[in-house]
Amino acid sequence: MSAPNKNYDPVAVTALSAAEVDRALEAALAAIEAASTLDELKEARLAHDGDKAPLRLARAEIGALPPEAKADAGRRVGAAMNRIREAIGQRQAQLERNRDEQVLVTERVDVTLPFDRTPEGARHPVTMTAERLADVFVAMGYEVAEGPEVEAEWYNFDALNIPPDHPAREMQDTLFVARPDGEPGPQGGYGGTGSPPMLGSGMVLRTHTSPVQIRSLLTRPLPLYVVSPGKVYRNEALDATHLPVFYQIEGLAVDEGLTMADLRGAIQAFVDALFGAGLRTRLRPDYFPFTEPSGDVSMECHVCRGESVKPGADPCRICRSMGWIEIAGCGMVNPRVLVACGIDPDRYSGFAFGLGVERALMLAHGVNEIRDTVDGDVRFSRAFGMEI
Ligand code: PHE
Repeated sequence: MSAPNKNYDPVAVTALSAAEVDRALEAALAAIEAASTLDELKEARLAHDGDKAPLRLARAEIGALPPEAKADAGRRVGAAMNRIREAIGQRQAQLERNRDEQVLVTERVDVTLPFDRTPEGARHPVTMTAERLADVFVAMGYEVAEGPEVEAEWYNFDALNIPPDHPAREMQDTLFVARPDGEPGPQGGYGGTGSPPMLGSGMVLRTHTSPVQIRSLLTRPLPLYVVSPGKVYRNEALDATHLPVFYQIEGLAVDEGLTMADLRGAIQAFVDALFGAGLRTRLRPDYFPFTEPSGDVSMECHVCRGESVKPGADPCRICRSMGWIEIAGCGMVNPRVLVACGIDPDRYSGFAFGLGVERALMLAHGVNEIRDTVDGDVRFSRAFGMEI
């Protein structure tokens, strides 16, 4: 081991000279400045602040200096190393900032771009409405009943107290099903007079969901509470207010002691569930062969709440300033219908009501054209919050 260096001799420890320390410091600062990535900065740190860094090695030599030179050299090296660490810290922060900004740019997701999932389809708003309407009754204890769309005339008409020659057959423009051999049926057979062409296959495309009443009465035990949503057909041209194929939902209750009060209550509960409580309903006389007495149900306009009727009030587009909106046909089940199904009308009574699903949808959502429900434009469906 060499003896303590009593006479300060800067030449003996060149690495500790002011010029050498400055050179090492400058080299370090230049390397730190030149580092353009965090990895490069790490290399610069190892080279200039690591165990083998020139200033670290120089510092190890301080002990060999004469005492009066130690403090001076120690301060010089210490200051240089602090500058280097400071520069590394600043460069580190800057490079991390750059990297984070870079990540934000390269990993940016443009949420407004069209998605590339394969559309899988979704249920149509009319279907959803029919289900919602049915659910209201299911919650009241009704069962869902379904029937065929190609229906026997007997179910669609006769059993519902609409005999072949009855003018009521013409209330609904019926689509008749041809006989398989294409021949016209016997005169006076099912097909009805005045319902051209008289094909007489005995089958029709059901004109309403009421035949499901008959099917339910014939097959289900009493008391009976059913609701039947489904597609119905009429010989109508498609326009802004008519569809040749549309949906109805029908309710039927047959029990001992049912009265019109029960019918009113069911209808009110239905309107409350769909439009919120507080809208009045009213019944006015109407005619349906299968109900007696019959009525049509109106509800107070849910948009203007009757205000538009008042003099000087703003007109209402929804109720055409009538204050009321017709929503359903209804009545007490005609005893003849009960008899046709083998039910004793002295013991049982019932009520029924039927309404158009598209119309309910249009009312609830302010849709003007019934055609929109069949156009198949997904923009219509999407407006109902459906994922398509
Ligand atoms: N079936 C009738 C129609 O389509 C509606 C209705 C159903 C009326 C039940 C009264 C009772 O016009």
